[in-house]
Amino acid sequence: MQNRLKFNRLNRTLVATFLSAVLFSSCVSGQLGKNNSGEFKNGMVVTAHTFGSKVGLEILKKGGSAIDAAVAIQFALAVVYPNAGNIGGGGFMVYRSKDGQTVTLDYREKAPKKANRDMYLDSVGNVITDKSLYGQLAAGVPGSVDGMVKAHQKYGKLTWSEVVQPALDLARKGFSLTEKQAGELNRNKQEFIKYNPGKNYLINSTQWNAGDLLIQEDLAITLELIRDKGRDGFYTGKVADYIVAEMKSGGGIMTKDDLKNYQSIWRTPVIGNYKGYKIITMPPPSSGGIALLQLLYSVEPYPLKRWGFNSDSTVQLIVEAERRVYADRATHMGDPDFYKVPQQQLLTPNYSLSRMKDFNWNKATLSSDVKAGDATPKESDQTTHFSIVDQDGNAVSITTTLNNSYGSKVFVKGAGFLLNDEMDDFSVKPGTPNMYGLVGGEANSISPNKRMLSSMTPTIVEKNGDLFMVIGTPGGSTIITSVFQTILNVIEFDKSMQGAVDAKKFHHQWLPDEVAVEKDALDNLIKIKLQQKGYKIVERSPIGRVDAILKTKWGYYQGGADPRGDDTKLGW
Ligand code: GLY
Repeated sequence: MQNRLKFNRLNRTLVATFLSAVLFSSCVSGQLGKNNSGEFKNGMVVTAHTFGSKVGLEILKKGGSAIDAAVAIQFALAVVYPNAGNIGGGGFMVYRSKDGQTVTLDYREKAPKKANRDMYLDSVGNVITDKSLYGQLAAGVPGSVDGMVKAHQKYGKLTWSEVVQPALDLARKGFSLTEKQAGELNRNKQEFIKYNPGKNYLINSTQWNAGDLLIQEDLAITLELIRDKGRDGFYTGKVADYIVAEMKSGGGIMTKDDLKNYQSIWRTPVIGNYKGYKIITMPPPSSGGIALLQLLYSVEPYPLKRWGFNSDSTVQLIVEAERRVYADRATHMGDPDFYKVPQQQLLTPNYSLSRMKDFNWNKATLSSDVKAGDATPKESDQTTHFSIVDQDGNAVSITTTLNNSYGSKVFVKGAGFLLNDEMDDFSVKPGTPNMYGLVGGEANSISPNKRMLSSMTPTIVEKNGDLFMVIGTPGGSTIITSVFQTILNVIEFDKSMQGAVDAKKFHHQWLPDEVAVEKDALDNLIKIKLQQKGYKIVERSPIGRVDAILKTKWGYYQGGADPRGDDTKLGW
């Protein structure tokens, strides 16, 4: 099989006309549930791509549940947002039913059985740069397809084929690239060629342009197998053969047994309270949920509302909380099936408050003075999040990833999808700085079948026993910060959902000892005040791409779609 990547002016025009018609019809048919503030009564989806959102909305309108929409979106994003949408990666789901039952699903990738602690080191024990990031050996055993099957079996209302079909159609008929996507594909062309000799996936002989039609026939055939055979369509048979052949062609170690044995896991959510709001979030192997609650507990006694959004006191307090929580994250968190995470202690509010005791308003704490074991492992920015509420009020919050943008950059030949490079989320060499100058802990060292630590923080917030917010974001180690600050933006600083998402963010992760800020996040005067106290402030690229939904007191859904990407909110 070979993928056909086609584009021509006629097709582009036809697709653009078709899309405009479809999107227009969605808006018109959604009028009934819409109020004058652009809020929706019947349900909402917010995803990283217009087609992801459109597919989700159509499923909801057909009578599908939030989980049906989630499954359809997970597969659709694997087609239209290959940077992070995936079937070759993994993710986490937080679910809250309309009557307040909550559960999480861990479909994180696992280390293959042949993995070992030193697999990315050379003969003298030094880390081999890039080995855990690129190529076949960087891939963990994918969890997304098993996760979607399990979620659908438990909470789906539509048939499996109804929820897989929209992605299949997008792969087979094609979709038009956005300007951002065309640019990203062009920028990654040399790496696609380097890691995929003899394959032409996502590669255009000239340049991709906005509006070009991308058809992915091999991926369509894979999705057809998943549609017709469910889990077996991916973890056994032809697709498994292709994955194992791909491994053999480039020094990978994943076997048919690894694939056959992969199981996603239902886990009890981590739950806490912040000023009467109930926070329902992801437990380990994500560090995100525990860290989010620790951050909220650390700042709870302080008058943030009075200080105001991004004031010097607000920023200083948040930075000092983040410094301490990220130090804990590095030391204490890993896959709970392999390492005893001290969850109860970390989640005791008094523990977080005692960690804040030594902070001094006159002077920045030095990270070197913050007692903790090892530092945060490197994580990349390319992940994706989507939030959904259906017509009954069931809510889904999913963050899913290939790790780096386009994962390991390896396409499974014949099957047309990208493999993750999630192995780099392990501490490649515990106790020793990795290629980014960061060190990681024993808790997150590599072992066969172990899940690598994540920062993904899909979260649902309740107020007075009712749904209040569905939230999450990509952004590697900044995920926790972005979710934390966006929640504060609504609860403390009275921003709308969109305003809270748009607001500029800043980030501290213990090491390196610096405050990373988005352009224009802080007024100059505030920067100077903080610098005088010893804070090192560095400007960085955009932080996060939060996609969130807020339920207003009138029962309408307000979306927040991050303008940092092509993110789209649709409701009805
Ligand atoms: N790969 C990013 C994360 O899981 O946090």
